[in-house]
Amino acid sequence: MALVSSTPLLQAAKEGGYCIGAFNVHTLEMLQAVVEAAEETRSPLIIQSTVGTVKHLGPDYIAAAATVAANRSSVPIALHLDHCSDFGTIMQCIRAGYTSVMIDASHDPFEKNVEQTRKVVEAASAVGVNVEAELGRVGGVEDDIVVDERDALLADPDECAKFVELTGVHTLAPAIGTAHGIYKGDPNIDFDRIGRIAAKVSVPLVLHGGSGIPEDQVRRAVSLGMSKMNVATELRIVFSDAIKEVFAKNPEENDPRKYMVPAKQALKAAAIEKMRLCGSIGKA
Ligand code: 13P
Repeated sequence: MALVSSTPLLQAAKEGGYCIGAFNVHTLEMLQAVVEAAEETRSPLIIQSTVGTVKHLGPDYIAAAATVAANRSSVPIALHLDHCSDFGTIMQCIRAGYTSVMIDASHDPFEKNVEQTRKVVEAASAVGVNVEAELGRVGGVEDDIVVDERDALLADPDECAKFVELTGVHTLAPAIGTAHGIYKGDPNIDFDRIGRIAAKVSVPLVLHGGSGIPEDQVRRAVSLGMSKMNVATELRIVFSDAIKEVFAKNPEENDPRKYMVPAKQALKAAAIEKMRLCGSIGKA
């Protein structure tokens, strides 16, 4: 199967009351691990890369690897660009083969966010690419985007409805209290707000900051209407820790084909666990 747009995947998730794990990957092995997790569990999959990873690897390399994965796979796979505020980079990724993009103008005032999102929606819709946008501000650190807790703002349900209507955006990431990175304590999720936003907005909603959210809280967020959950930090840690463990035991190891194997396995297991929380297992 070729890479698919995330639109039908997220629509099916919204209708079916489950969520799709969207996993940030930075290397070929990480990409292969999340694909194996999806295949083994018959789960639809969204592979994501940040702008930092696009710069690191090149959008064409990432899209080529994801395309091979999708062509070989019998589960539907979408390739998404995470948090991007640059129109040029978004177009570059779409040309390379991304089937889903996020325009993040959440740092701008509402009108400017609307204007920039609408511009991306017009261009991306013409080629069947899904567009996600953010309203409010998710706190924490994601690549070089740093949002201080004090600057994190929760999304207003009425503004969300107005934003979707004005932009025609396909998917919305409203800030509801989660943060990027590992939580110091428990996340402070405003569940009531998720419900109020879901009641006013017809498009699928995205839960950012999926690392470290306790199981019951993920389930509750999904039951209230979250259709996509982004996970980055936790996967990076699991992958790197497994590599560190190999070198701790055998500092002389110098074969990536060996030291990447436990890392891939650990990442695959972590992705399967997130798919289980999301309720996406068996939905492909
Ligand atoms: P975490 O790094 O907290 O998992 O957040 C990921 C994310 O929301 C990417 O957009």
